[in-house]
Amino acid sequence: MDNTVKIFDTTLRDGEQALMASLSVHEKLQIALAIERLGVDIMEVGFPVSSPGDFESVQTIAKTLKTSRVCGLSRAVKADIQSCADAMSVAEAFRIHTFISTSDVHVEQKLKRGFDDVLNMAVDAVKFARKFTDDVEFSCEDAGRTPKDNLCRMVESAIKAGATTINIPDTVGYTIPTEFNGIITDLFNRVPNIDQAVISVHCHNDLGLSVANSIAAVQAGARQIECTINGIGERAGNCSLEEVAMIMQTRADYLGLRTNINHKEIARTSKLVSQICNMPVQANKAIVGSNAFSHSSGIHQDGMLKSANTYEIMTPESVGISKTKLNLTSRSGRHVIKHRMGELGYKESDFDLEELYQDFLQLADKKGQVFDDDLEALLYNKQQQGESDTYRIEYLSVHSGGGEFSTASIKLACNDEVKIQSATGNGPVDALYQAIKQAVDIDFEVSDYKISNKGEGEDGLGQADLVVNYQGRKFHGYGIETDVIEASGKALISALNAIARAQKVAQLKQQAEQQADQQKIHGV
Ligand code: KIV
Ligand code: ZN
Repeated sequence: MDNTVKIFDTTLRDGEQALMASLSVHEKLQIALAIERLGVDIMEVGFPVSSPGDFESVQTIAKTLKTSRVCGLSRAVKADIQSCADAMSVAEAFRIHTFISTSDVHVEQKLKRGFDDVLNMAVDAVKFARKFTDDVEFSCEDAGRTPKDNLCRMVESAIKAGATTINIPDTVGYTIPTEFNGIITDLFNRVPNIDQAVISVHCHNDLGLSVANSIAAVQAGARQIECTINGIGERAGNCSLEEVAMIMQTRADYLGLRTNINHKEIARTSKLVSQICNMPVQANKAIVGSNAFSHSSGIHQDGMLKSANTYEIMTPESVGISKTKLNLTSRSGRHVIKHRMGELGYKESDFDLEELYQDFLQLADKKGQVFDDDLEALLYNKQQQGESDTYRIEYLSVHSGGGEFSTASIKLACNDEVKIQSATGNGPVDALYQAIKQAVDIDFEVSDYKISNKGEGEDGLGQADLVVNYQGRKFHGYGIETDVIEASGKALISALNAIARAQKVAQLKQQAEQQADQQKIHGV
């Protein structure tokens, strides 16, 4: 049996489903490109029928990916499958992933059908999907709780209908590793045509066992793992990509398995996903947590000084964490910045050197020393700005302390207009947000506002994150600055710019639809 385990990333589908605010097409594309560079074999990038926004982002990403195979999700119904095919037909090759529930509780309570009916729907769906591509994946939703006989029948029928990958999800994170290994072993022993498909697993983390279950499954012969960056996903999340990839790398001696993952891209991709998705990574998270490679106890530190492998089973460098920290100052030239960005894993095409250098000089003037996290923060600040942002802060001033209220004044460029506004609030951020609200004159609500430290200790920058609720939709915004009030202002402005971009896209769509209707009426 081939010892390569395919990595199927579903950060932009299962992961995105769990976010507080949905991502823009631009943000999804940024993440997709980073994940492609990480070397995933297949990337599930959305559920095209679920919304026009999802359709558009799947289409845009399908056009862009070169080395990872693009995949879209569909229920086992024709309209979903057709929408998947329409969205991805721009790609040279694509995978359609269709699914239906197979457990008794789902079949009876959710689908309210008999199992045979569900089996026929699955077969029809796979056959229909095969009309568009020869790469069709079929998933038995809630396979972990599906009676074995039914699971075997379903798998055999789906393969016969043309599925080339069969996915066995532990949808509710219920199984125990030895039990899940048994389910996969049983399929290999009992399904006669099992050798005609790749067996995949998709484990959720409700009991904290998603990674252990995925590894138990590949030990039983599964050759695809579905996972997400930082393990983000529904409820307690999905199996974490960086963990399974590093388990197979670090314990190749025991498992005898490999992946196509470029491990050195792990840290960079993890940080990007965490930043854009507004999903902080816990400090003690394996592989990518900020403490994952730090040693606290004296005994451990002593051991590390004598020989790193006393307490380190893999090096930080192997996942792209740079050990040497370089302090840059305003005397550092462009070539030093370019070189350092390269060492941090960024390609020249990831940034505009001149722009980054000018931002770097401004920051160096404010802070004196600029660290790696600061350089990445400058990049993130740039990445969240659109080509032609509607709003830009030209000046802000906030006074607080002493009195009952704080006051804020703001000068805001709104397209070609400049608005000046002052307001009071029960704190400096509240005053600033009141002033901005009056200046832009749109009705929104801010929720989930938080401040965190970007970087280390008192040298770190302040990062503000928030979610803006506007007309039933949620938009994430962030700002990173030396001053947390300025960071808070930038975070709100970035969310308002995201709203303005979404409005422009909706307007353009409406115009295109009206034009198409007119053409129909006039028989063009
Ligand atoms: O968790 C699950 O079962 C899923 C399927 C759609 C594969 O996400
Ligand atoms: Zn899932």
